[in-house]
Amino acid sequence: MCVRIFAYLNYQVPRTRKEIFETLVTGLQRLEYRGYDSAGVAVDCPKKTATDTTDNTICLVKKKGKVKALDEELYKKYSLELDEKLCTHFGLAHTRWATHGEPSAVNSHPQRSDKDNEFVVIHNGIITNYKELKEYLINKGYEFESETDTEVIPKLMKYVYDNRENRGVTFSKLVERVIKQLEGAFALVFKSRHFPGEAVATRRGSPLLIGVRSEHELQTEHIPVQYNSGELCSSFCLPLSSYTEPRWVCLYNDVIIISTHVHFLFTHSAIIEHTNKVLYMEDDDIAVVTEGRLSIHRMNRQAGEDPVRAIQTLEMEMQQIMKGNFEAFMQKEIFEQPESVVNTMRGRICFDTNKVILGGLKDHLKEIKRCRRLIMIGCGTSFHAAVATRQILEELTELPVMVELASDFLDRNTPVFRDDVCFFISQSGETADTLMALRYCKERGALTVGITNTVGSSICRETDCGVHINAGPEIGVASTKAYTSQFVALIMFALMLSEDRLSLQKRRLEIINGLKVLPELIKKVLSLDEKIKAIAQELFKQRSLLVMGRGFNYATCLEGALKIKEITYMHSEGILAGELKHGPLALIDKYMPVIMIIMRDACYVKCQNALQQVTARSGRPIILCCQDDPEVTKNAYKTIELPHTVDCLQGILSVIPLQLLSFHLAVLRGYDVSARARRRC
Ligand code: M6R
Repeated sequence: MCVRIFAYLNYQVPRTRKEIFETLVTGLQRLEYRGYDSAGVAVDCPKKTATDTTDNTICLVKKKGKVKALDEELYKKYSLELDEKLCTHFGLAHTRWATHGEPSAVNSHPQRSDKDNEFVVIHNGIITNYKELKEYLINKGYEFESETDTEVIPKLMKYVYDNRENRGVTFSKLVERVIKQLEGAFALVFKSRHFPGEAVATRRGSPLLIGVRSEHELQTEHIPVQYNSGELCSSFCLPLSSYTEPRWVCLYNDVIIISTHVHFLFTHSAIIEHTNKVLYMEDDDIAVVTEGRLSIHRMNRQAGEDPVRAIQTLEMEMQQIMKGNFEAFMQKEIFEQPESVVNTMRGRICFDTNKVILGGLKDHLKEIKRCRRLIMIGCGTSFHAAVATRQILEELTELPVMVELASDFLDRNTPVFRDDVCFFISQSGETADTLMALRYCKERGALTVGITNTVGSSICRETDCGVHINAGPEIGVASTKAYTSQFVALIMFALMLSEDRLSLQKRRLEIINGLKVLPELIKKVLSLDEKIKAIAQELFKQRSLLVMGRGFNYATCLEGALKIKEITYMHSEGILAGELKHGPLALIDKYMPVIMIIMRDACYVKCQNALQQVTARSGRPIILCCQDDPEVTKNAYKTIELPHTVDCLQGILSVIPLQLLSFHLAVLRGYDVSARARRRC
């Protein structure tokens, strides 16, 4: 499920309900990710009269459509008393992209325990055992209203609450009992009318961080984890699994007072416009805010586990996450690539001495050089970065290199050995399959290396060593600058590993010189934007678009096709040109749009053969080729001529026209690319 969660707690800082809505709605808008189809908020309801003594009640406002529709709905609800000031308040907000159940208000989040909204929850992730839980709860008399997997969570909360052993059971303890029953991945934030002003959040396999903003200096920036002793469960145990019932035992202090006038934000990605102070939660951490005090709880302390969570200060500039004059973050990030690749190389390549040093790997070089094989693991675009660099890695490291899609790698229970070196490539550093593959390899004793863009992410923290690609925040859902920076980082790794190989020096030098001028060449490619837009004008009504190439540019085909699918909702397929005669040729005729990548490299002649096969079938190829190549251009329907660079770097240049093309196609097809922004997930 691709969703965003955002929760905001103001403690002893008076805010009108309108201001709270604004914070929640702008929080969602900032985090809009991957398309979404519904949104919702949970806030405290106004008291009916000044003398109203009814329990605190929770109002849910949920709406199908964009956040804007939710925003409008909030202002229509006059009963919500927008000007009422709330000294302490906790609100939840969520955008959803339907996976379980159609887009509708009832399927959107927050999901609730019952008609009285005793417990409400927002969820990012997927609950894989929800069917069993739902059946169990239905048998116990709980009624479900949505088709979501998430709804079992608030229902389960109510179940453990209804069956609690005494009135003293805390909110966090209830959450702990619930998450023991959940399988899958989740980041969850809970609100309850039984615990007004309290927030509980937890995660497993989905990112979650807490932002803290205070008008006063924080009393501490280190939150000791509180472990519980594990007493046996009693009457409220679910039969679905046996578990031990916790009793929180404080390791250090009882609770940590952060500050008196304080704001807390719970979300999955950096929230720099609200605060630069963030605490990254670990899997199975339960964060609790009670009376303005933040505490972190866990069941048991594992060997080697850090018993403290630090509140970190982000060094991100506001402008880094602003769209500026661009129509969408995706477009901005495509145009940032001349700088982002420089940032990836900065301080790592010395162009005077031709030395490449990746600080995060240098202590592990011997081990890496001695390894049995390199295994590169990732998903989507990150996987394509591995495909793109595999050949040069094999050439310069002289090691066998496997490239693996994380999900498939896990499905196959792939054999991994202690002398393997496993790379985990991930922009966000949080992708569940990649993270699970990392844990799988760690358990088998392999050296694990992270290639990530997100400092403090799970992959960053859990790998033995790694390279931060420094591409800057990537907010657009389509990974663009992260791809080219991952590409450059992996090339630098190959260069570092081959530094002492005399026979490879000429090749290394050629690549280093290519990297030196890369930013200028990227600028030249970006200057083709208008031409690419004109091509998009011709193509945008098509149903399908094939992208063909081979060798160093096969990954470009896969990545280009992924961008087109993801952003334009048009069918697209990346085809290895060498496979053309084994089936895909059947698709070619004068109506099928085909993009072919034919660069002056070792595959040039073979690609020309493929071109002949396409033209023989009346295909009308749009060819990405090097400047001044009359041989290729004479057979092209249209050409996009790119500057020539070293073969193994050409893919960095050839992917950019496809990034631009997918952006323009999406706009022309009427999709709101600007809404498709994320965070770093
Ligand atoms: O954050 P990650 O790099 O691990 O994400 C992996 C994929 O989900 C991601 O690359 C996805 O394919 C891109 N959004 C495609 O543009």
